[in-house]
Amino acid sequence: MTQNSAQTTRYLADYRPYPFHLRETRLVFDLSPDATRVQSELDFTPLAQGADLVLDGGSALILHRLSIDGRDLSPADYDRKDETLTIPAATLPDGPFTLSADVQINPAANTTCEGLYLSGGIYCTQCEAEGFRHITFYPDRPDVMAPFQVTIHSDQPVELSNGDRAVPSEERHGAITRIGALWIDPWPKPAYLFALVAGDLRAVSGRFTTMSGREVALNVWVRPGDEDRAGFALESLVKSMQWDEQVYGREYDLSEFNIVAIDDFNMGAMENKGLNIFNSKLVLASPDTATDTDYERIEAVIAHEYFHNWTGNRITCRDWFQLCLKEGLTVFRDQQFTSDLRSAPVKRIEDVKTLRDRQFREDAGPLAHPPRPDRYQEINNFYTATVYEKGAEVIGMLKRLVGDDGYKAALDLYFTRHDGDAATIEDWLAVFQDATGRDLTQFKRWYTDAGTPHLTMAEDWAADDGRLTLTFTQETAPTPGQPDKPPRVIPIAVGLIGQNGDELRETQVLEMTQAQQAFRFDGLGARPVVSVLRGFSAPVTLSRDLDDAGRAFLLAHDRDPFARWEAGHGLALSSLTAMAQGGTAAAGHLDAIGRLIADQTAEPAFRALCLTLPGEDEVASLLAARGVTPDPDAIHAARESLAADLAQAHQAALAALYDAMETGGPYTPDAEPAGRRALRLAALGLLSRLDGGARAAALFDKAGNMTEQMGALTALVRADRADAALDRMLGLFSGNRLVMDKWFAVQPMAAPPARAASIARALAARDDFDWKNPNRFRALIGGLAANHAAFHAADGSGYDFIADWLIRLDPVNPQIAARISAVFDTWHRYDPDRRARARAALNRIAALPGLSRNSSEMVTRIIAAGD
Ligand code: TRP
Ligand code: ZN
Repeated sequence: MTQNSAQTTRYLADYRPYPFHLRETRLVFDLSPDATRVQSELDFTPLAQGADLVLDGGSALILHRLSIDGRDLSPADYDRKDETLTIPAATLPDGPFTLSADVQINPAANTTCEGLYLSGGIYCTQCEAEGFRHITFYPDRPDVMAPFQVTIHSDQPVELSNGDRAVPSEERHGAITRIGALWIDPWPKPAYLFALVAGDLRAVSGRFTTMSGREVALNVWVRPGDEDRAGFALESLVKSMQWDEQVYGREYDLSEFNIVAIDDFNMGAMENKGLNIFNSKLVLASPDTATDTDYERIEAVIAHEYFHNWTGNRITCRDWFQLCLKEGLTVFRDQQFTSDLRSAPVKRIEDVKTLRDRQFREDAGPLAHPPRPDRYQEINNFYTATVYEKGAEVIGMLKRLVGDDGYKAALDLYFTRHDGDAATIEDWLAVFQDATGRDLTQFKRWYTDAGTPHLTMAEDWAADDGRLTLTFTQETAPTPGQPDKPPRVIPIAVGLIGQNGDELRETQVLEMTQAQQAFRFDGLGARPVVSVLRGFSAPVTLSRDLDDAGRAFLLAHDRDPFARWEAGHGLALSSLTAMAQGGTAAAGHLDAIGRLIADQTAEPAFRALCLTLPGEDEVASLLAARGVTPDPDAIHAARESLAADLAQAHQAALAALYDAMETGGPYTPDAEPAGRRALRLAALGLLSRLDGGARAAALFDKAGNMTEQMGALTALVRADRADAALDRMLGLFSGNRLVMDKWFAVQPMAAPPARAASIARALAARDDFDWKNPNRFRALIGGLAANHAAFHAADGSGYDFIADWLIRLDPVNPQIAARISAVFDTWHRYDPDRRARARAALNRIAALPGLSRNSSEMVTRIIAAGD
């Protein structure tokens, strides 16, 4: 399936507009598993004299006929090579013309989950970013937008495409005349938003009346038998539609909105116009099969894809370098949505955790790139935490700098000025400049420069004058291809706290623009404690002179929930880094946690976050940033022993908390009971270090929902006494793919590191390890990679296991192979022996004959970190 196309790099600077206008696209599909026919008619108008018509088209397309205005072209009239088909200008009419093609493709042979493929007998498509070229010849670039008419012929009961259903038309193919489903999408769109689904599906349906009174039919399409697990997705869709009207004034624009759940899907979900396609794990939920986290993610991703209708579809990207224009903004919007519906402080902390775990990691290693990259080899490798999460973070900073009113004015201008456009980051920044008058020249560096700025804060207290001076220094380390990092504008939210815990100065946002800059606070009676980067006001790392007593003080007193959590997190990191290097826990850490457990005023979900220790990867990163070579085994031992110490110190309080947080009554996935369950399970996790898993075993047997069942199972796997529970779960759920994915993931991920690789190997040998399914592959292979000490095992067994499987997957599904290869991106920070083993594993992947462009780009970048 894969061809090793020449390694060509694409550059933002090379952007040229397409020299033809595409007035309309008409497609007729005759679906059959191994010989689907795609007939296309494309109405073009030349925009420039003498331009060749260049179409994208994968090498697997079988071209039966190509004609212009009804006149057949012979192979001599065009040039087909690699992934393009070129018709020279001389062969084209001077004015408007219609290009028709008859193409054959083989969905059954397509294992890539890109283009048109079959998932469990359902025909479906995935076209972003460049999948449409595997369906037919087309200008497959986001700035070529056209209205679509799509006719589908198949033997399937349900046939869907973008837009609105139209009266079925009659299409003649040879001798047979058949009625097909006809879909008309009046909104001009790029090919990446095209979608088609045909299969035996059932709808769970609802209605929505938009703010202007338009009636919209809503359908969530699932396999027969899954209808009772689609209700939550439908409710989430209604909430999303309401929210976007209320908060952004954005209304839906078709008479139908369809969502389809698909089992074989590379990512989370896809915003195809009017026909969102979802990984089934982000649609299907019932209390006995989905966890609280699953429910929250379903709600957020349904919202995310729906919000794309305006930020992505009505206004799309000019080219793929601008990807964060739609993704950063849509993530920002879905984060706002979740904050509004659930707990804003808890959501903020969760988002910062994700940002640090995934994006800071990216920025600190060989895969660092700016939110708007200026070059790539394979665009699929740039659907990253930097483009998505940092892209959202940058918008949060912009909003902080221009204020809520400025943000609203800018967004209104964005929607009116750019509706129907394929836009750029420059367009985006211009609406903020024009709406607020603020010069964003320096701010733009957040989009163009990679790397996480490091802030240092020094305090100078002048007691006689009652003046505190805060001096900040910013520095960003070089990243691949970007040696120099000029200073950026950094919003720093600061509050001052009195020694008695009172808020002396409420939060204000300091705007740092220089490499070094001082800010003064006058009129203070006594030296305050500084609470800095409240709400995580900028995506930076921070060093300051704060000892563990100061952290404990902030954990007890800070009014800003993020800063409060951050103080506790800092204490835990202080303990863990010390313990991993043979030292002891931070002074006062255990006591501070004790006070937090007892703090009934803090919401349970918040306390749960404070009780959860930082992950081993984070400890390793912190040590590496300080120039210490991390020892994975020592880090694991330190984390286990700190957890045991915490449990020992607060055994009675934790046991009481575990009992008190039991949720009675029927399960609901709402934030409040979910928070209680999270706190209960955090307590269970600690207590299991003392009771050997006894409580967890009891909970597993009587748990009435998947959240508690998985919480208990995780504790049992960690305690290495999960056999009975795993068997029981297998007996109950062997027929449920999504639960089985959890079953495959928890074992390698939570098992004691010394046993994890052999557990993973045994699981990989099972018949139900359906490795061609992206969710299943990610569960097992990604699960082992997420077990820090197992992946980085000294004997190289973790590296080899992952590399073996990536080599196997690459020819089948290069997108997923390349994405998972990123787990190697920290290999260079370990000791020489581990480095040698990791490098050998990476070299084996790099040497694979026919390695995909996807994996080749990733592995080349990653290996370069060792040079
Ligand atoms: N645009 C999608 C989103 O963020 C993500 C996406 C990009 C995707 N490429 C994909 C999803 C390939 C599935 C497969 O919502
Ligand atoms: Zn998106």
